Amino acid sequence: MENIKVKEENGISVICIDRPKSLNALNTQTLKELGQVINDISERKDIYTVIITGSGEKAFVAGADITEMKSKSAIEGREMAKLAQKVFSNIENMPQVVIAAVNGYALGGGCELSMACDIRLASTNAKFGQPEVGLGIIPGFAGTQRLPRLVGKGIAKELIFTTDMIDAKEAYRIGLVNKVYEPEELMEKTIELAQKIMKKGLFAVSLAKSAINNGLNMDTESAYAFEANLFGLCFSTDDQTEGMSAFIEKRKALFKGC
Ligand code: CAA
Repeated sequence: MENIKVKEENGISVICIDRPKSLNALNTQTLKELGQVINDISERKDIYTVIITGSGEKAFVAGADITEMKSKSAIEGREMAKLAQKVFSNIENMPQVVIAAVNGYALGGGCELSMACDIRLASTNAKFGQPEVGLGIIPGFAGTQRLPRLVGKGIAKELIFTTDMIDAKEAYRIGLVNKVYEPEELMEKTIELAQKIMKKGLFAVSLAKSAINNGLNMDTESAYAFEANLFGLCFSTDDQTEGMSAFIEKRKALFKGC
């Protein structure tokens, strides 16, 4: 891999977008490498949580690569959007929990990448925005879809139409990020969060993720039925027996993830 670094420790995989000279901008090659890493990790039974971050201290990802996009035809532009949308959907639907550690600029495709993650933690120097209409394009890595679902239609439209860049505090206020930390604390706090989740019944966590993601794309009655089916499925697991026994026996549960 040229533009993606992966580090693994204690069941956590840290994926780092590594093109610091271009503020980690996503070109086609980086998107393809990211897609491959995501597909590989999705199959792994020894990786329980995933963290996505950017290389260096300045940027998470400063967007799609404008140098590459500048001379694209309409067909090529659509192909790039479809590639990124597929990779980001695969991130959203990974069986593992995915946390974005947003360590600087998260603009355009960078903001869109962070929104494909389950949870966003940001450093105080993070900046979010969708600058696309200022470049004569629209957000094309699913930003027009995920941003309104996360922060509501009105705020999403304001951010996309004005291209205003917002700081981490404002991103927290509108619900775009879950927590904000000092830059030197960000990775430590992200790993702490991953470890906290990993102590729970991970099969149940994965089903809860599926219920939320899939349920939001269904009508309410279908979503309730889907949730009830996944709830039922939990009762076929050792984790359910262990979790409830531990409660009754007043001890800490020791989950196996199955
Ligand atoms: N694509 C390609 N190169 C980029 C880039 C991008 N998105 N963002 C930054 N870079 C490059 C710069 O061209 C520069 O390269 P050189 O040193 O070779 O000149 C290098 O990264 C450092 O950037 P700056 O000198 O501009 O750094 P700065 O601190 O002055 O500004 C910034 C930082 C505000 C993030 C600014 O770089 C910027 O505005 N970048 C573009 C952000 C943007 O518009 N992103 C959206 C892209 S479109 C998109 O993402 C579409 C979509 O929906 C997927």
